Amino acid sequence: MTEPAAVRCTGLSHSFGATRAVDGVDLEIHPGEVFGLLGPNGAGKTTTLRMITTLLPTTPDRITVFGVDVARRRMAVRRLIGYVPQQLSADGALTGRENVALFARLFDVPRRQRAEQVRLALDLVGLAGDADRTAKTYSGGMIRRLELAQALVSSPRLLILDEPTIGLDPVARSSVWDRIASIREATGMTVLVTTHYMDEAEQYCDRVALMHAGRIRALGTPAELEAGLGPESTLDEVFRAVTGNRLDREEGGIRGVRATRRTARRLG
Ligand SMILES: Nc1ncnc2c1ncn2[C@@H]1O[C@H](COP(=O)(O)OP(=O)(O)OP(=O)(O)O)[C@@H](O)[C@H]1O
Ligand SMILES: [Mg+2]
Repeated sequence: MTEPAAVRCTGLSHSFGATRAVDGVDLEIHPGEVFGLLGPNGAGKTTTLRMITTLLPTTPDRITVFGVDVARRRMAVRRLIGYVPQQLSADGALTGRENVALFARLFDVPRRQRAEQVRLALDLVGLAGDADRTAKTYSGGMIRRLELAQALVSSPRLLILDEPTIGLDPVARSSVWDRIASIREATGMTVLVTTHYMDEAEQYCDRVALMHAGRIRALGTPAELEAGLGPESTLDEVFRAVTGNRLDREEGGIRGVRATRRTARRLG
């Protein structure tokens, strides 16, 4: 039997009142890959993640996580997932260790294994030495790493990160990504991540989907998407092409950007 997809979304939609935040998303994430969900503000990325993590309601047969239906078996799905939300989730009044221990309890890590799992998670993100300081004394980068430890403490098969590096300096950004990469390497965990930083997506994601106005507009490896736009294109240009106003027209933006690049080469 072939291994089920880590995540499969089929015709996934969600509206907030009159706002269609997610509008017919089909998506398949392979076990073990780092998958980037990219898109401008308001594209529907967080809404999509919140449906996958069971935090927003869905109807049956729309999402499975490792073959388990999210609407039918919410608790079973929650046990498979570690989630770092976009909004900060650590409690400043607690120490790093207490924050991670709280998640270990929430996510049903067996009592006898808790202390050791908490220690391991803090170690993985490089916070062992700072574990007993209160989180309000941490820098932004340390907070993000603490949240990563919170998500990892239950040894999830699927790690979901919503803008894990937003607001961090370049060194802290690469530190978070290096941790994610080495954890993935060690555990074979699947990672689903959103980011606005195209250089990060290019460097760390096996495949990416570009989302705009609730829909997936392009999907593939960074190299495939770049090649689709033309020689020497960057993911940044693909992003602009896909999310630009031109996409409102039938032809799509890719053609327009290709023409612009040809013109630029002629002139340059
Ligand atoms: N709780 C909510 N109530 C009403 N509207 C919402 C709510 N959450 C999101 N929306 C709307 O749904 C759309 C998609 O929002 P979402 O947060 O999924 O976007 P996003 O891609 O994560 O954006 P960002 O990059 O800014 O985080 C937006 O138009 C947003 O205003
Ligand atoms: Mg968001």
